[in-house]
Amino acid sequence: MPQMQIADDGRLRHLLTLDGLDRPRIEALLDHAAQLRSLWRAGAPLPQLLQRRTVVNLFFEASTRTRTSFELAAGRLGATVVNFDIASSSTSKGETLEDTLATLEAMDSDAFVVRHKENGTPARLAAHARRAAVLNAGDGNQAHPTQGLLDLLTLRDHKGRIDGLKVAICGDIRHSRVARSDVHGLRALGAAEIRLCGPDALLPDADEFPGCSLSHDIDAAIEGVDAIVMLRIQKERIEHLPGVDEAEYFARFGLDRRRLARARADAIVMHPGPMNRGIEIAADVADGAQSVILEQVANGIFVRMAALAALPGR
Ligand code: NCD
Repeated sequence: MPQMQIADDGRLRHLLTLDGLDRPRIEALLDHAAQLRSLWRAGAPLPQLLQRRTVVNLFFEASTRTRTSFELAAGRLGATVVNFDIASSSTSKGETLEDTLATLEAMDSDAFVVRHKENGTPARLAAHARRAAVLNAGDGNQAHPTQGLLDLLTLRDHKGRIDGLKVAICGDIRHSRVARSDVHGLRALGAAEIRLCGPDALLPDADEFPGCSLSHDIDAAIEGVDAIVMLRIQKERIEHLPGVDEAEYFARFGLDRRRLARARADAIVMHPGPMNRGIEIAADVADGAQSVILEQVANGIFVRMAALAALPGR
């Protein structure tokens, strides 16, 4: 994935992962997102960077935030957006995904935003695309690059930088593409410490996350951090889900006010959504003064604008 998303001329050809994207490229995307956000918030017209482009949302998995914000991002920059309806499409008649892509590409589609439960599906489609760009909107537990970017932008807004930050990511790390993309982005921008925390069964293999610490003690993981990213238990990705006692999980791994007090006083609380209140996060923390969860949502639109604009078009 890291190689195939960069074209021979060094430009971004697809956006499949933050793994291997260098700091200047990530910072340029964040800067562009912030610039578009300033225009939007000032009520100024947005540059119609995607005029004449067609963006197709291909979501094979449920989504609220990601799909809607890609649609709004593309539309507000002048693109035509197609929300491809998979349930009523020919993929349900046995057409391969590659043929679906080729068909939509023949209609002069320029970008495909792909979410799929199988790792590597966006890369597979990218390999098959003739001219169109593929944006990964989440594949299996592998990558969710625009979520990584919006998390970086939100962190940078609050802390002024990513360099030197201490970040705890807590919950179901093993099944989380968000955790993987966050770690790639945080590393590229110089975070000092990344602490991964969750129950043993939901922690990843250590060799997959070199340079991160792994623990099942959330109190220790939160101590002194600048930011906490909470993740839900991604039940649909767990093959043999042991019975989870939700009250017990909350008691051991949930972020409540008492635990949050262990972080720096100015620490921010993040969550990619969907949230399960009372399981991984207390409602008063989710809605509290340190929560930036809805800012993450708002930033999602601007990083998706920047990502779409960075890809080749007509
Ligand atoms: C996440 C996802 O789908 O990977 N949500 C999102 O895109 N904001 C996280 C999750 O499903 O828990």
